[in-house]
Amino acid sequence: MIPVTQRPGNVIEKKGAPMKETATLSYRGRNFELPVHVGTEGETSIDVTKLRSDTGAITLDPGYGNTGSVESAITFIDGEQGILRYRGYPIEQLADRGSFVETAWLLIFGELPTESELRHFEDLLTEHEMIHENLRHHFNGFPSDAHPMAILSAMINAVGCFQKGIVEPDKTESFAKTAARLMSKVRTIAAASYKVSIGRPITYPRPELPYTANLLHMMFSRPNKSYEPDPEIAAALDMIFILHADHEQNCSTSTVRMVASSQANLWASVAAGVCALWGPLHGGANQAVIEMLTHLHDSGESLESFVAKVKDKNAAERLMGFGHRVYKSFDPRAKIIKGACDRVLKKLGIHDPLLDMAMRLEEVALRDSYFIERKLYPNVDFYSGIIMRAIGIPLEMFTVMFAIGRIPGWMANWRETTIDPKARIYRPRQLYVGPTQRDYVELSQRRGRA
Ligand code: CMC
Repeated sequence: MIPVTQRPGNVIEKKGAPMKETATLSYRGRNFELPVHVGTEGETSIDVTKLRSDTGAITLDPGYGNTGSVESAITFIDGEQGILRYRGYPIEQLADRGSFVETAWLLIFGELPTESELRHFEDLLTEHEMIHENLRHHFNGFPSDAHPMAILSAMINAVGCFQKGIVEPDKTESFAKTAARLMSKVRTIAAASYKVSIGRPITYPRPELPYTANLLHMMFSRPNKSYEPDPEIAAALDMIFILHADHEQNCSTSTVRMVASSQANLWASVAAGVCALWGPLHGGANQAVIEMLTHLHDSGESLESFVAKVKDKNAAERLMGFGHRVYKSFDPRAKIIKGACDRVLKKLGIHDPLLDMAMRLEEVALRDSYFIERKLYPNVDFYSGIIMRAIGIPLEMFTVMFAIGRIPGWMANWRETTIDPKARIYRPRQLYVGPTQRDYVELSQRRGRA
């Protein structure tokens, strides 16, 4: 805890209560004291929960760039210094030494699992890897060119209809089963959606395989050609999942919390998260980056001319995989993935011209004053697609891989909001700027618009 004497701002003392810092808002001739809260990493927030009842005014923050919607103990980001930690553990250590399954446990339950907890969770993941046989027919209802993110979201809700047990987010043993069910079935659905999209039969999971290797098996095994997952490829994908596992109150996680705040069930909340993730400004950027690099490679357009285009506000094109709402220096995940790209490609003996293209593009952008002034750096999506391509993940499945990785983070956030006794339904306000009151006009009296 930071000693009160070190804190700036106004400090007031109530009789018998500890000293609390406040911020003073001067508005229409009156002063209002707003409480200041300090997080465990010394970040501060000004509490405006009583602002409207005290002053009649609301805060206006389009895109929520300056709005703290929750107090959360899951993930910490320092965007200025490029720091990312899950439950206090640096992302670099987890990516280097951890596994996706233990990272999932850590995010959901707050501590790294003991050996027996980890074994138990792995067993639960195996136990729940099948989906109800009736659900196999659902896949045939999608057109063969349906995007796998649409299938994933729809199927998560469909699978949820078959889950009849009570969800007890406050009980570790019980919620571990729920978490394993969702995490495991999402992997099975993802692989099945890929198989359906390429017109091949769905492959059943193999219980002896670990989580990520089992996904690779379900995606790439065929009835007439067995596929043995390469442990190094599985390890590279596992690391990608760790890097994507949580990222505090991003668009999809806020969506999950928003839906959860109405007391909707876990499956419905996560299905909504998948839809939010799909967009190219969020998780869909990994697919968009490869499409951009492929265009540059195939068209021969110079990088300088392309960069000039993304800087032009009228061109409506962006440098995909660059920029971030929170990071104003290097995204630590991008650093890790860039390093891993070299290693994985070398190990697989692959030379990918898109990696060269990405590195040259990064160089051109980072020298450019437009990107320097706006503090735009490569984000997690800039290099992740290169690794996914190298290990054989098809382009349309990239965002699905992101979703598989993000499931633990969504569950941790769903759980945190659901067990919070102070949680309220999410319901932002707005500043209305439409027409003021006017009278209804009969149809016959309405004049056509030019
Ligand atoms: N290319 C060109 N200009 C950009 C870019 C970009 N990638 N990103 C931001 N800018 C400019 C933007 O035009 C604005 O300029 P100005 O101040 O002159 O109007 C300034 O930088 C600030 O951008 P913003 O749009 O206000 O920033 P934001 O925080 O609202 O958006 C972002 C963040 C990630 C949506 C945006 O940087 C972007 O569109 N990036 C490309 C898409 C992308 O890579 N998304 C993945 C994000 S990381 C993983 C994830 O969240 O899933």
